[in-house]
Amino acid sequence: MKNPGIELFKDGKRLDGRKVDELRPIKIEAGVLERADGSAYLEWGANKVLVAVYGPKECLPRHLSDPYKAVLTYRYNMAPFSVDDRKRPGPDRRSTEISKISAEALEKVVLLEQFPNSMIKVFCEVLQADAGTRCASLTAASVALADAGIPMRDLVASCAAGKAGGEVILDLGKKEDNFGEADVPIAITPHDEEIVLFQMDGALSKEEFQKAVSLAKQGCKTIHEIQKAALKKRFEQVKPPIKAVKTEIKKSEVSK
Ligand code: CDP
Repeated sequence: MKNPGIELFKDGKRLDGRKVDELRPIKIEAGVLERADGSAYLEWGANKVLVAVYGPKECLPRHLSDPYKAVLTYRYNMAPFSVDDRKRPGPDRRSTEISKISAEALEKVVLLEQFPNSMIKVFCEVLQADAGTRCASLTAASVALADAGIPMRDLVASCAAGKAGGEVILDLGKKEDNFGEADVPIAITPHDEEIVLFQMDGALSKEEFQKAVSLAKQGCKTIHEIQKAALKKRFEQVKPPIKAVKTEIKKSEVSK
């Protein structure tokens, strides 16, 4: 998070030409996998994330089951080819941390009490990483859960704000994340703006902090619209069941 003299602003604009309060382009598609109960594919700038959801199904191993609610598991995984230097396959401290906080964020919205002794599994595969992958994964995971038809009280939309080159900015890009002063990823339930994930790396003054949180919330609201549009598109594609039509055939119409 230290800036070793790297210029993060050029002519008042960010390195990728964005304004301080501008998100990178985001695309979400729901229902992309046939074998999973729910799925979503998301592109956010150069980030590419695929999420699959299974369940609710019987909780195995049984000793993990809860007689009062479903257990929600979340696996955030970075593909070895997702970053510049090959990432060693398998879990590490970072992915364990991201998986834990993301599961806790989703537990706040999924109506787990409706499925005692069950398990809901969320798998996030980061295929290409370019800063902001925890927010991208959580945003896609919430769409995949909705695609699976799992009851939730709201979606979860996630986005980071922070400080780079002395400015408070929305949705840090790779260089801004690596060489900026602070990164504040958050996730909210868009309807009541409850914060369900909050992290901070770096240092901000009170005013900068308030500005960053307000920017990130605005970002989450924009992302919520993209999530809703993806789900709407997905469920518009599902054809309604064919209704039985009662037809009366007159005797005279029956060929002899
Ligand atoms: O991705 P996110 O911003 O949520 O997490 P981070 O720990 O702040 O990582 C920022 C970025 O660093 C990632 O998005 C990747 O582009 C990069 N990274 C990497 O190149 N190799 C890793 N092992 C982990 C992260």
